[in-house]
Amino acid sequence: MTADDQVDMARSQVFGEVAEAYDAARPGYADQLVTDVLAYAAPGGRPVVEVGAGTGKATLAFAARGVRMVCLEPDERMAAVLRRNTAGHPGVAVRTGGFEDWRPGGRRFGLLLAATSWHWVDPARRWDLAHAALAPGGALALVWNPQGVRDPQVHAALAESDRRLGITGAPHARRAWEFADVPGDWPGWPEAECRRDGRFTDLRPVRYRQEVHYDTDRYLTYLSTLSGYRVLPPALRSEVLAATARTLRRYGDALTMTLCTDVLLARAR
Ligand SMILES: C[S@@+](CC[C@H](N)C(=O)[O-])C[C@H]1O[C@@H](n2cnc3c(N)ncnc32)[C@H](O)[C@@H]1O
Repeated sequence: MTADDQVDMARSQVFGEVAEAYDAARPGYADQLVTDVLAYAAPGGRPVVEVGAGTGKATLAFAARGVRMVCLEPDERMAAVLRRNTAGHPGVAVRTGGFEDWRPGGRRFGLLLAATSWHWVDPARRWDLAHAALAPGGALALVWNPQGVRDPQVHAALAESDRRLGITGAPHARRAWEFADVPGDWPGWPEAECRRDGRFTDLRPVRYRQEVHYDTDRYLTYLSTLSGYRVLPPALRSEVLAATARTLRRYGDALTMTLCTDVLLARAR
């Protein structure tokens, strides 16, 4: 339920159904990541373009550093929350629409940021679009948030519950102790694709880690914002969430995960 090789249009447009829950339950991005991305990109006076800004989880962290941003978000309901969240940042302009439909005009950007959204952009066009939007030497920062369960017993119990209901790809299907020091251990990691494209250089994969604690209700809200859960038939989704809740209640009514933030940095030649 992270990066898909093929863009599933129906699945890419489910977030707006739960825009407020998304905003409440999805994780934000660490200050260190913002510092490192801006140090790498050194956009100077050039603006940042953000692809798939959602409700502004990454936008706000970057806008707080005073960068000017153009934020693209195709879902009106997500864009409405994004406009509300960024109202205090006059340097942030929100454009409703997908990356594929946007024209940068004469502008060239110092940084293209895509947080948990690059996999939704047309794979046949995304590198062309990114390269065309960036100034020479401008940077790409592609970000994802894989998570894994820290306790093996809890992991096994959740896996059993999912197996019974035929659910695959839940965030708790991963084991925290199997995460390597660098990203690339999940399908869809775009480093090889970016390298093959040939128009980007200085590729740097970076992984940040933190421990996160969810109480059961917050974890269920988080799950309900994931596209893989949104596309389940409602009755099955309720059953799956109820089963997950029953399992977590047997283990302290909470879940501790390792949250990785994986970033691929690259520079336009
Ligand atoms: C998982 S959300 C990530 C939102 C936000 N960046 C974050 O980190 O919380 C993915 C977002 O990408 C948007 N999206 C889907 N297809 C897109 C496309 N073709 N171009 C730009 N954004 C797209 C969705 O509407 C959704 O808001």
